[in-house]
Amino acid sequence: MEALALERKKEQNRELKERLLQLKKERNAIILAHYYQRDEIQEVADFRGDSFLLAQKAAQTDADVIVFCGVHFMGESAKILAPNKTVLIPDERAGCPMADMVNVDGLRALKAKHPKAKVVAYINTSAEIKAETDICCTSSNAIKVINSVDSDEIIWVPDKNLGDYVQKFTDKKLIIWEGYCNTHDQLTVRDVEEMRAKHPEAVFVVHPECRPEVVKLGDYVGSTTGIIKYCRESSAKEFIVGTEDGTGYQLRVDSPDKKFHFATKYLVCPNMKVNNLKKLVKALETMQPQIYVPPYVADQARASLERMLLVQ
Ligand code: 13P
Ligand code: SF4
Repeated sequence: MEALALERKKEQNRELKERLLQLKKERNAIILAHYYQRDEIQEVADFRGDSFLLAQKAAQTDADVIVFCGVHFMGESAKILAPNKTVLIPDERAGCPMADMVNVDGLRALKAKHPKAKVVAYINTSAEIKAETDICCTSSNAIKVINSVDSDEIIWVPDKNLGDYVQKFTDKKLIIWEGYCNTHDQLTVRDVEEMRAKHPEAVFVVHPECRPEVVKLGDYVGSTTGIIKYCRESSAKEFIVGTEDGTGYQLRVDSPDKKFHFATKYLVCPNMKVNNLKKLVKALETMQPQIYVPPYVADQARASLERMLLVQ
């Protein structure tokens, strides 16, 4: 019975993929997928990547339509960087709880308290927060961005774990907002120790959105792209992975001969997983849901995103 259901699902996916190819051509569309998306979406993407690479691709594309398979703030960043394109997201309920942990009033109050400080916002923020920000960053360029800012005092929003990590690589004083990622923050020292006991040969690679005491255990610490690159280039054959489980797709594509153990079964972002292949096809069929950012917000937010893209 299970084999039958699996066969039916495969057949459905084959049909959906054919329809998708046809629609992509008709609409002149490009599909961008974050590494945390379901495999069935990563399989059909024109580009898979982390937040930074996907923002770059959105800014550079000639396509008329961008289907952003990720969470809402990523779609917003694409729309801000490519204001004349139509940006679709397969399911508009794909939000990011961390991005929702910082609000404009709170940030303005903090700015008033520290008038000399510049604001650096993780890309995991709303367009309204980006509009209040001097420069954005992602986990792959956070240290470079912080060190590029012309101020000794920096308001950092919203991820306290990434803030704690970055603080170790700069003499600047970070004033850190208390947000966090519900998914990465669940990983504990005990989880890692248990996995290390089970897989003593494995190397532990970890995303800096995890808690500081967990990040400290990492043999390698880096963004999603950093982790994928490290595992591909490493001579090690076995890894314990401390980031969202969708990353497994690219890890297996790049290194089919290596073993990847996710550090817990809780490393799944439910928000990323609300998108699926069926909704992706429907979005291109109906040209909905579209991402909308009010132009006066987009214009201010664009400056902080573009400054980030210029940091080498
Ligand atoms: P990166 O894509 O920068 O690795 O960020 C991880 C993340 O949590 C995205 O939501
Ligand atoms: Fe937000 Fe964390 Fe999910 Fe990324 S993994 S979208 S930071 S909740």
